[in-house]
Amino acid sequence: MPKEKITFFCTACGGESVRWQGRCPHCAEWNTLVEERVIKENSSKSKPHHPLKQAIPLSELSGEPQTRWLSGLSELDSVLGNGLTQGSSLLLAGEPGIGKSTLLLQLAFGLAKQGQTLYVSGEESLQQVQTRASRLQTLSDNILLLAENEIGRALGEALRLRPALLIIDSVQALYDSELGGSGGSVTQVRAVAAACLEAARHIGCAVVLVGHVTKEGQIAGPRLLEHMVDTVLNFEGDRHQALRLLRAVKNRFGATNEVGVFEMTGLGLLPLDQPSAYFLSGRENIRPGSAATCIMQGSRPMLLEVQALIAPSSFGNARRLAAGYDTQRLLMILAVLERRFGLPLGSKDVYVNIAGGLRVEDTALDLSVAAAIVSSLKEQPLEEGLLIFGELGLLGELRAVPLSARRLREGAAFGFSTALMPKQAQRRRHEEKPDKKSSPRSLEAADLAQALAILGLD
Ligand SMILES: Nc1ncnc2c1ncn2[C@@H]1O[C@H](COP(=O)(O)OP(=O)(O)OP(=O)(O)O)[C@@H](O)[C@H]1O
Ligand SMILES: [Mg+2]
Ligand SMILES: [Zn+2]
Repeated sequence: MPKEKITFFCTACGGESVRWQGRCPHCAEWNTLVEERVIKENSSKSKPHHPLKQAIPLSELSGEPQTRWLSGLSELDSVLGNGLTQGSSLLLAGEPGIGKSTLLLQLAFGLAKQGQTLYVSGEESLQQVQTRASRLQTLSDNILLLAENEIGRALGEALRLRPALLIIDSVQALYDSELGGSGGSVTQVRAVAAACLEAARHIGCAVVLVGHVTKEGQIAGPRLLEHMVDTVLNFEGDRHQALRLLRAVKNRFGATNEVGVFEMTGLGLLPLDQPSAYFLSGRENIRPGSAATCIMQGSRPMLLEVQALIAPSSFGNARRLAAGYDTQRLLMILAVLERRFGLPLGSKDVYVNIAGGLRVEDTALDLSVAAAIVSSLKEQPLEEGLLIFGELGLLGELRAVPLSARRLREGAAFGFSTALMPKQAQRRRHEEKPDKKSSPRSLEAADLAQALAILGLD
């Protein structure tokens, strides 16, 4: 007899708890536990140990390479590790409205010449998907649409059609009618995903699961599916800006430090194979408060413009706002500038913005943020063709950042003639040496005082 039982699940990691707690004991997130009914089969019989499959020596397995399909979306193909692997499973996670359905329609269209796609839409009507597909110009006979919320029925159609690619948009919108509870619960999301993967294995097709990430945690997050699939891609960006980043957080078929860059347009996602050009566009005549820097996103260098604006604050409560940059780090830089250089920033509002809508965590940005702030404060523009990068310490010291040579090369490619950077310590052996010919002239500073002197901002 199956027995019903109440269990508490974490919507972030899927961890199970017997009672409600404010904090998940598995992943330490707060307020993520929700109550769910689960049906437990009575399994008092112990399983027999009959070998159903025999183990094979590793060396005797045929090493046929898996077929990869190129979608033609260069940034997507490279994040996947040179295309979508046949028969693989992929989870595409992202916040609502970020462009997941758009990306997948474009993927299906890119693969249409190579095989059939079944697109199961659990959220949008056929009409809505069709409207988007015509806007994106991705209409094809080889993309078959099904608006369905019940996973059994959806997979029944998949088994009939046997497509090369199955897209489930989204795991939270579909439900298994044989299980209790509503769609989007931890039990349901797991069951839906497991059923999709099972069916895909049976058909031999690749499967893409869409997973919504929400901050509220009312629906189960995609994180609890990460271990079940081959590849996990996070789709990130600010919904109000056009820039989108596709990041591989897990990949059984490629590197995980790859980042794909796209621009969201009316015609869909446009791969940006030269993100530096995109970020620097619009930086023609250099105003006070503007500094150019180079960050690394995975293995890719990207040139960026850092903007700072210093304005007198009213009524003595100075505001500090950072868009695309860590506010805590901004406060640290301001403290260093105030305490070590006596700059009058305490009575000023400080705004820092990374042009283009990227969120940057690379500490190599520090020196350029400091330079942009001082440049704005003194209303003095920085020199043209100057690239600035380096990490700043609390004592005002500058620390070298990894992959300087790579950053310099990117700067040179986009016409930067000079680079201000921290004094380079002994170069680590695996790091490449800067190539004299294709590098900007580099000016090295040991601390912020030297750097500001070089910039003429002391
Ligand atoms: N005409 C348009 N021009 C430019 N961008 C558009 C246009 N229409 C939609 N978009 C962009 O597409 C985004 C929605 O894309 P999409 O529906 O693929 O996202 P999603 O991640 O699937 O969202 P959901 O969570 O609703 O499923 C919008 O937020 C907007 O940025
Ligand atoms: Mg969608
Ligand atoms: Zn948890």
